[in-house]
Amino acid sequence: MPALELAGEDTASPPEKTLFGKYEVGRLLGYGAFAKVYHARDVHTEQSVAIKAISKQRILKGGLAANVKREISIMRRLRHPNIVRLLEVLANKKKIYFVLEFAKGGELFAKVAKSRFSEDLSRRYFQQLISAIGYCHSRGVYHRDLKPENLLLDENWNLKVTDFGLSALTEQIRPDGLLHTLCGTPAYVAPEILLKKGYDGAKVDIWSCGIILFVLNSGYLPFNDPNLMVMYKKICNGEFRVPRWTSPDLKRLLSRLLDTNPQTRITVDEIVNDPWFKIGYKDVKFHHDYLELKDEDDEEDDSGGSSSSGSSSGGDNLKMMNAFDIISFSSGYKLSGLFDEVEDGERFLSTATPEEIMETVVAVAEGEGLTVVTRKEWCVKVVGGHSCNFVMVVELKRLTEELVVVEVRMRESVVGPSNRIWKDKIRPGLNCLIYKTGPAG
Ligand code: ADE
Repeated sequence: MPALELAGEDTASPPEKTLFGKYEVGRLLGYGAFAKVYHARDVHTEQSVAIKAISKQRILKGGLAANVKREISIMRRLRHPNIVRLLEVLANKKKIYFVLEFAKGGELFAKVAKSRFSEDLSRRYFQQLISAIGYCHSRGVYHRDLKPENLLLDENWNLKVTDFGLSALTEQIRPDGLLHTLCGTPAYVAPEILLKKGYDGAKVDIWSCGIILFVLNSGYLPFNDPNLMVMYKKICNGEFRVPRWTSPDLKRLLSRLLDTNPQTRITVDEIVNDPWFKIGYKDVKFHHDYLELKDEDDEEDDSGGSSSSGSSSGGDNLKMMNAFDIISFSSGYKLSGLFDEVEDGERFLSTATPEEIMETVVAVAEGEGLTVVTRKEWCVKVVGGHSCNFVMVVELKRLTEELVVVEVRMRESVVGPSNRIWKDKIRPGLNCLIYKTGPAG
């Protein structure tokens, strides 16, 4: 069984058969400049997963700790049928492991390499891609590194975009641990990046989608040359020709996607209203709220595929923290400042029982005129404030027999007067519960 090691890293350590006693590691699926991806099987559920191993040292060397923390927290919340789910994040002293939904069908481009797709099939995949991109963009998440190896297929031949939100990481690190703005082929890279002008993540993704649509329809790249400098020039000048079988409507859309001027380039909203794109398009309806309280393990999966996620309950309704969560609290791993803050909220430890904690939270919230909208055994959601724009979720996780982690999250939009509800009213009322504040407190 191979060890989960990184490209270019010392592989002398003995191979691991299972990772954290939970995942049996199998064949290598792929590797990049700084990470390897393996097939693995959950030993309890037999579910297939993909595990991506990343070196902590390189992240820290590259000064990317804050990026990783942010990106993981975003990734964990992305739920879309055409996006590979981040199921779990595990970590040990040396590495971070992303446990990802497994896309059984492999790379989309392995299929297009055999023969170009019909216009209808190209449209179907492009619609799925835009649905995923639009979903992420509407949540302020940009891929910035859309390329063939990030487009996978599931067992039903549906598109799955991978590495969403992790690109800030993947695009910048090389084996030397230094930051680089450009690595690999520039064939999918927007002109404004090549021109080092500074860029808008949304516009850059749209450009890459244009390249992808072109390849699906034609079977080859719009901008290509063995000489990189010549390729750069073609990209920056927007010099491409569509193949003769391309319909006028598709040709028009491609020219709007591959507009070298990011300001005039088509937007996602415009794409979904495009006559070529619109044919047979049904966008996905979402029922997952950003701060939804559903137990992750119960959750209906939009993709109809994978299931479990995050920390497992282990027979106790109170979720146990996984390695990722525990390491967040461990200065021994020198990761403090990497994973220990909760964005838009706070996390602290308490020796009170979960029942006491919940009672206190509800009493303080109700005492301040907030309304409890959902209450579960280990999770509560309260709303209030001016036009109910204050939304707070308090979730408990058991760390040890004696210690419970209390995680308080608020909507990102909680600013100004709403934020005062937390700071001045709720937070002081919870002081009695705090055993030891985390760095966020
Ligand atoms: N290669 C990289 N990520 C993968 C995934 N999630 N599923 C299958 N193959 C992959």
